[in-house]
Amino acid sequence: MEKTFVMIKPDGVRKGLVGEVIHRFEARGLDIEALKLIRLSRKEAEELYSIHRGKDFFEELVNFVLSGPVVVMVLSGEGAVNVVRKMMGTTNPKDAEPGTIRGDFALEITENIVHGADSEESAEREIPIFFGGLDT
Ligand code: CMP
Repeated sequence: MEKTFVMIKPDGVRKGLVGEVIHRFEARGLDIEALKLIRLSRKEAEELYSIHRGKDFFEELVNFVLSGPVVVMVLSGEGAVNVVRKMMGTTNPKDAEPGTIRGDFALEITENIVHGADSEESAEREIPIFFGGLDT
């Protein structure tokens, strides 16, 4: 079954949205394969966002995800990568549709509540950063 990687960012944890976000994924029918609340190391944060290295928002993004605990998880289900992307809404919450996670709970592009892998290839790269023992 297709797997994807999701992270509830520090703003999502601070706003008390962990249960709400996980509930939406569960209610949709996605399975939780793995889940933990952690503080990222700078190395993990830079590795997760390595494709954005050199962009003007990279430092701000890394510092933000280091600003508090996050919840990382692996979800599985048919078409899980795209299902999760649609449920999250557009990266910039200002454009996100109501009913999506970002459309309902965020307004700032950096503080946009959740990260989700943007492709199956990204999921295969991101999952082992946090869940070394999982077979993707
Ligand atoms: P995320 O899905 O976690 O992937 C990269 C993150 O960079 C993105 O969500 C945003 O929170 C953040 N970001 C900040 N500025 C930008 C930008 N200009 N374009 C894309 N992503 C940005």
